[in-house]
Amino acid sequence: MDAADRRFDVVLFGATGFTGRLVAEYLVERYGVAGELRWAMAGRSAEKLATVRDAIGRSVGKPVDALPLLTAESGDDASLEALARQTRVVCTTVGPYARYGSGLVAACATLGTHYCDLTGEVQWMRRMIDSHQQAARESGARIVHACGFDSVPSDLGVFFLQREMRARHGVPCRRVKLRVAG
Ligand SMILES: NC(=O)c1ccc[n+]([C@@H]2O[C@H](COP(=O)([O-])OP(=O)(O)OC[C@H]3O[C@@H](n4cnc5c(N)ncnc54)[C@H](OP(=O)(O)O)[C@@H]3O)[C@@H](O)[C@H]2O)c1
Repeated sequence: MDAADRRFDVVLFGATGFTGRLVAEYLVERYGVAGELRWAMAGRSAEKLATVRDAIGRSVGKPVDALPLLTAESGDDASLEALARQTRVVCTTVGPYARYGSGLVAACATLGTHYCDLTGEVQWMRRMIDSHQQAARESGARIVHACGFDSVPSDLGVFFLQREMRARHGVPCRRVKLRVAG
């Protein structure tokens, strides 16, 4: 099936967790449900998903009954594949990723489903790249790790620093140290 024909644009896996719920709230506020963005919440417990969905509806003050709920379990590859087949993009907040995330990356890379996560687990990312780069190239899946708060400021910080360094001195820094203060 072509990715454009899939039932959903985005499935948010891990919507019952702390971060997943924040993402779900954002999606409800920004896009509503059953609107232009076709999206769904996913998790391992249908009951918990329904409770979280209804609580978000109350806190955001929007109707959410039409928001689809999908169940999948990180240890059940068939459920992960079924999830990945239904959507163009999976956004996953199910972690720690080294423990719970590998099956979903494999499914997305194989099935041509774009993927993003919040991991900062660099050894795991290395393993995922080594294991699935070829399949993702062939299927067209874009696998994007490290979209979380820990990762984005350091990536952008280095990017801006190196741009400035090149503009001022004509060469990039050979080494960059990052320090974050509250
Ligand atoms: N890089 C960053 O800046 C950044 C920022 C925040 C978080 N993170 C990472 O993001 C991940 C999520 O953090 P969080 O604070 O949102 O965690 P959390 O509140 O514990 O949520 C974890 C989610 O994973 C689900 N889950 C756990 N085991 C599962 C399984 N076997 N199958 C399917 N779903 C399962 C949980 O479902 P149930 O509700 O059913 O238990 C829950 O929805 C962590 O790995 C964290 O380190 C990274």
